[in-house]
Amino acid sequence: MTPSFSQSAQGMRSSEIRRIMKLAGDPSLISFAGGSPGTSLLPVDIVDDLYGALSTSAKRTAMQYGATEGYQPLIAEIGRYLESKGISTKDQGLIVTTGAQQAINLVAKVFLDPGDVVVTEYPSFIGALAAFKSYGAETVGVPMDNNGIIVPELLKTLDRLGKKAKILYLTPYFHNPAGIIYGADRKRQLLDALKGRDIILLEDDPYGELYFDAADKPLTATMKSMSNHSINICYTGSFAKIFGPGMRLGWLCASPEIIDKCQLAKQSMDACSPTFTQVLAAEFLSKGKMPDYLEGLRVAYKRRAGIMLNSLAELMPKGVSWTTPKGGFYIWVTLPEYMDSSDVFQKAFEGGTAFVIGSAFDPAGKKNNCLRLAFSNTPAEDIERGMEVVCDAVKACVKN
Ligand SMILES: Cc1ncc(COP(=O)(O)O)c(C=O)c1O
Repeated sequence: MTPSFSQSAQGMRSSEIRRIMKLAGDPSLISFAGGSPGTSLLPVDIVDDLYGALSTSAKRTAMQYGATEGYQPLIAEIGRYLESKGISTKDQGLIVTTGAQQAINLVAKVFLDPGDVVVTEYPSFIGALAAFKSYGAETVGVPMDNNGIIVPELLKTLDRLGKKAKILYLTPYFHNPAGIIYGADRKRQLLDALKGRDIILLEDDPYGELYFDAADKPLTATMKSMSNHSINICYTGSFAKIFGPGMRLGWLCASPEIIDKCQLAKQSMDACSPTFTQVLAAEFLSKGKMPDYLEGLRVAYKRRAGIMLNSLAELMPKGVSWTTPKGGFYIWVTLPEYMDSSDVFQKAFEGGTAFVIGSAFDPAGKKNNCLRLAFSNTPAEDIERGMEVVCDAVKACVKN
C-alpha cells in the first residue's frame, strides 16, 4: 500500500533534474555542476587553529544545545558585519539559521499558504524555488537583463496576477545561476516601484563578498541598506561560500515581528543551528580572519572565471551567448532556442564533464535552452580541459 503522504510531499516529484544532479556528482567527472566553494580553498588550517585555541569551557559550549536565535557572540559579530554594510540592525531582528537555505525556508513557512504566489527572477535559485513550492506556492518568473530583474516586466507581472504576490525573491549580488550583479540604478528603480506595495522582498545575498575587483565592491550595496525600511525586506546571508558550506550557517535580518515568527518556526525545525560551528564562526570573525581569507578567495575565483570565459570565447559556436561575472561562482550560457540543454548534458557527460541544465532554474520548470557553469570548485588546470568537452557537446547539437 502506498503511504498516505501529505499534499506537500506528494508535490515533491522525482525529476530529470534530480537524475542529472546525481550523475553530476560523480567524482570522476570534471564537474561544473555544484554550487560549491573550491574544496582546496576551504580554510581548514584556520579552523584547526581556531579550535585549538578555544578554552575547555568554550569547547563544552560548542558541544551543547544553544539558543534558537543563535550563539550570542556570533549574533553580535554578524550584527557588526551588517552594520559595516550599512544595514542598521538597531530596530531589526537577527537570527542565525542553518544555512541561507533555512532562512529562505523560514520566510516561506511563515508567509505562504497553498496557492500563494511568489515572484522570482527568471532564472532563479533551485533551492529557493523548491522551498516555495514545498508550501504549495506558485512561482512566477520575471526576466532579467545584465543589470537585474526588468522592473517594467515585474510591475506588469504583479498587476497581471489577479492576486497579491506574497514574496518577491531576488538574488541581486552575483546571481545564482545568472552570474550578474544588479546595477545601482536598477536597485533604486526597484525600491521606488515596490514602495507602498504589500509584498515581502526576500533579498538573498550569499555571494556579495566575492567580487573579483575592489572597484566593484560598491555594487554590492544592499537594498536592505538603501531602503530606509520603506519596504519590508528580509535579508539573508550565509557562511557557506565564505567559510564553508559544511558549517551549515547563515543568517536572517528582518523586522522584529518577522524574526519572532521565524524563530518560532525554527524551534520546531531544528531547535538551534549547530553550536559547534557557530562558536568557530564567531572566532573566525572576532579574530579578524575573514578579510585575508576573502582576499585569497577573490583572487582564486577571478582566475577560474577568467579561464572559463577565455574557453567560451575561443570554443563556443556562433549563436551561443553567456554572462560575464564580476564575482561569485557562475556563468549562465544561453544556447540557440531550438537546443535542449539536456541533450548537451548527455553528450558532455559521456565526455566526462557535467553542468546543470537550464530548466532546473526556471520557475515554470520548462525553458531548457540555457545551462549553468560553476567555475568555483574546479582547479584552474582542469577548467580548459572540461570546457573543451562542454563546447564540443554544444557543437554536436548545432543544427546546420
Ligand atoms: C542564491 C543562494 N541562496 C541560498 C543558498 C543556500 O546557501 P546555504 O548553503 O547557506 O544554505 C545558495 C546555495 O547555493 C544559493 O546559491
